[in-house]
Amino acid sequence: MGLAEAFKQLGGTIVENAFVRKTTTSDNLQIAHTDRFEIKGHNLVYTTHMPPGLTVFDVECFPYRSYVIGIKLKNGDYPKHMAYDMKDPYHYIRTHTIDGQPYLILGGEDHKTGHDDPAAAFQALEEYARKYYYVESVDYRWSAQYYVPADGLPFIGKMPGFDDHTFVATGFSGNGMILGTISGKVLRDAILGKEDKYLKLFNPARIKPIAGFKDFVAENVDVAYHFIADRLSTADMESFVELAPDSGEVVEYKGQKIAVYKDPQGQITALSPTCTHAGCIVKFNAVEKSWDCPCHGGRYDLKGQVITGPPVMNLKQINNPGE
Ligand code: FES
Repeated sequence: MGLAEAFKQLGGTIVENAFVRKTTTSDNLQIAHTDRFEIKGHNLVYTTHMPPGLTVFDVECFPYRSYVIGIKLKNGDYPKHMAYDMKDPYHYIRTHTIDGQPYLILGGEDHKTGHDDPAAAFQALEEYARKYYYVESVDYRWSAQYYVPADGLPFIGKMPGFDDHTFVATGFSGNGMILGTISGKVLRDAILGKEDKYLKLFNPARIKPIAGFKDFVAENVDVAYHFIADRLSTADMESFVELAPDSGEVVEYKGQKIAVYKDPQGQITALSPTCTHAGCIVKFNAVEKSWDCPCHGGRYDLKGQVITGPPVMNLKQINNPGE
């Protein structure tokens, strides 16, 4: 809040709830197009996790979800430090106090977005907590998304394939507090044309055929696998009666592939399961109640509206499934 206020006092304007569908350039101005209005400026900076649309980062930066629980302990023995273990998937602990009540914050059990089971991740975190601590209650649960670059370093600087006035900061691997702050300084210098020792190191156009090559290949083979396998593996559904309330699934219904969700009252929402970014098949996330894409981490709500990029268009509604 303090930062936002300082920004406004310096003449900045903050616009919220304005989904940018595309950007263009005209008369040396960058134009961001929302559904309601346009925003014009001399420079454009993508600080949106993954920049929207198809970009080089689709094959260089990989989406993960990370889980956290907030726990009250029986014995009040809250850790005074922050610590990570060395397991895979890893865990970390720290203490956070709200209105005088300390909580053990336990996080980890990360997995690629749209792969593995989020419910199992929360379950594993809770089991880990009960193994090492005297748990009184688990009061909070939440998850987040972050992006891991193929060679381990973030991308901060000029956006590859765009003009000299378009910039990006992404691939923070979950370390946004540090790398977000560094990005502010590096991007300021990039825009002002100043020397900055980090500009070369974090150059988004760096091409390293060796560094990160193994991860680069493994992650992209994974995308290719999902593009094909998820199209072939869908189960047939004779009738929506088979689907349990408050659950969703991608099914083949009367020869048509659909992402179907049944709400607790039995109301059905049917969507095209084809991600509008690059055409992979989305997967239902039963914990977050979202449709998650296993390829580049795009996520949609139950009505098919984009909640996490890189897609910029919503999933198509299917009004009369099977017709
Ligand atoms: Fe890229 Fe879905 S996010 S295909």
